[in-house]
Amino acid sequence: MRNTMSRQIQTAVSKSLATVADGVSREEFLQAMKQAASLVSVITTTVGGQRKALTVGSFLSVSADPPLMSVCVNRNSRMCQAMKDSKTFGIHVLSDAQSYVADNFAGRPQSGDSYDFSCVEWLEQGEGREALMEGASISAECEVETVVDAGSHCIFIGAVTNIKTDEKRPLLYWNRLYGFPSHA
Ligand SMILES: Cc1cc2nc3c(=O)[nH]c(=O)nc-3n(C[C@H](O)[C@H](O)[C@H](O)COP(=O)(O)O)c2cc1C
Repeated sequence: MRNTMSRQIQTAVSKSLATVADGVSREEFLQAMKQAASLVSVITTTVGGQRKALTVGSFLSVSADPPLMSVCVNRNSRMCQAMKDSKTFGIHVLSDAQSYVADNFAGRPQSGDSYDFSCVEWLEQGEGREALMEGASISAECEVETVVDAGSHCIFIGAVTNIKTDEKRPLLYWNRLYGFPSHA
């Protein structure tokens, strides 16, 4: 009896170790990540006078002492090299009525050109600075402090040099749908 139980425990342990050792497939990972609700943000940068932007779900507040924020950018995106070159970027956490801005900078605009900056108002901050986004929940300028290679993406950690907030509800992305938070 005791031997049978110990064999069962051993089998269960080696099965769970096998799961860890085998890892998960890309498909399993992506399927699981659909459940991870994220804020929807647009990051911006300017190189040689040319503005670029990208919709991201990977914005994180990193530290308050000193103020740091991070974002993950696919290395195949033109934005990745542009941010390395420019060494500055803007992070604009979208508000609940700005899903059209997210679509525009994710390469699926409702109308007109992709990366059409005229889809939203911008507050110019002056020469060499990133404009802040009108109507965003949070809009900040950062200086690139650290870039970490992580699989298909680069993690950019930026020192926050300018920030404005609006009391609007932030836009969320969950299960491939846009939404917004409400009290439980
Ligand atoms: C809600 C949402 C979140 C996204 N999050 C990221 C992200 O964190 N990092 C990233 O590199 N791409 C992210 N993307 C994908 C880019 O926005 C998308 O691939 C973009 O169209 C690529 O444009 P490009 O060809 O100009 O690089 C996200 C897209 C959506 C709709």
